[in-house]
Amino acid sequence: MSEGASDDGLRARVAAVPWYHTIELPGGIVTPGEYDLRPTVAKVRFPESLEGKRCLDVGTHDGFWAFEMERRGAASVTAIDVADLSELDWPVAVPPFSPEAREELARRRGAFTVAQEALGSAVERAEISVYDLAPERVGTFDFAFFGTLLHHLRDPVGALAAVRRVVHGQLLVCAVFCVSKTLLYPSTPVVELFEGRQPFWNYPNIAGLRRQVESAGWTVVATGRPFLERFGAGPRWPAQLPGWRNVPRRAMFRVGVPHVWLLAEPFAPGP
Ligand SMILES: C[S@@+](CC[C@H](N)C(=O)[O-])C[C@H]1O[C@@H](n2cnc3c(N)ncnc32)[C@H](O)[C@@H]1O
Repeated sequence: MSEGASDDGLRARVAAVPWYHTIELPGGIVTPGEYDLRPTVAKVRFPESLEGKRCLDVGTHDGFWAFEMERRGAASVTAIDVADLSELDWPVAVPPFSPEAREELARRRGAFTVAQEALGSAVERAEISVYDLAPERVGTFDFAFFGTLLHHLRDPVGALAAVRRVVHGQLLVCAVFCVSKTLLYPSTPVVELFEGRQPFWNYPNIAGLRRQVESAGWTVVATGRPFLERFGAGPRWPAQLPGWRNVPRRAMFRVGVPHVWLLAEPFAPGP
């Protein structure tokens, strides 16, 4: 088959699924992600080399960060996400998905496979909730990335503690934070709870995020400067989900969503 024909085949596969991440694929094909995290890579303390390391990507979605770990030489990458929408522990008051919305979200799961196959990637996708991480199920890791997930979780500290069970090296957390509460209370940990009809729970200031990470048994060794995770060329969720109504964009700016990163290591109790 000619290269042009195989590029056309990949283009058709890319066009057939909705994308969360903007991912560069062979043949100059770039997926139309809702977010474009390519500029984020240089903004977070992502290790230059992961040569020989066993890595974990928590809440991988289309796999952008997992593929980045592989590109940086990881010996293996495990990318976890939930198996089913019912495992998303969103507030009970969030309006139920319409059948069309469920189908759209299910189709989103196909994007990881398209990217993985196009990249010839050996990343292993495992359908397991972060809360269920345990060495018996997934082994242990030298490095883990935990991106844009804490605010969706009912129990962010429990999730961070579960990651602690399987990571003996470093954890890079990249999370949404509340800008106004960070300005008002720069050193007091504060967590605002979102209005219950949105698919989010926690909206901490930076001190609050730090406290959540520390409470789960980590020592924060570095905290970055705030930055925006930028929107990509793709349609913005939830506008693209038929039947989903009116989710306010409280935490969003025009070009992206404010984030901050924290680098942590397992807390070592003193003598
Ligand atoms: C907002 S996306 C972030 C994607 C990616 N980590 C990033 O930084 O761009 C959140 C992802 O976490 C997944 N997720 C939600 N709850 C989870 C859970 N309990 N365990 C593992 N993954 C979860 C969602 O399915 C979704 O793919």
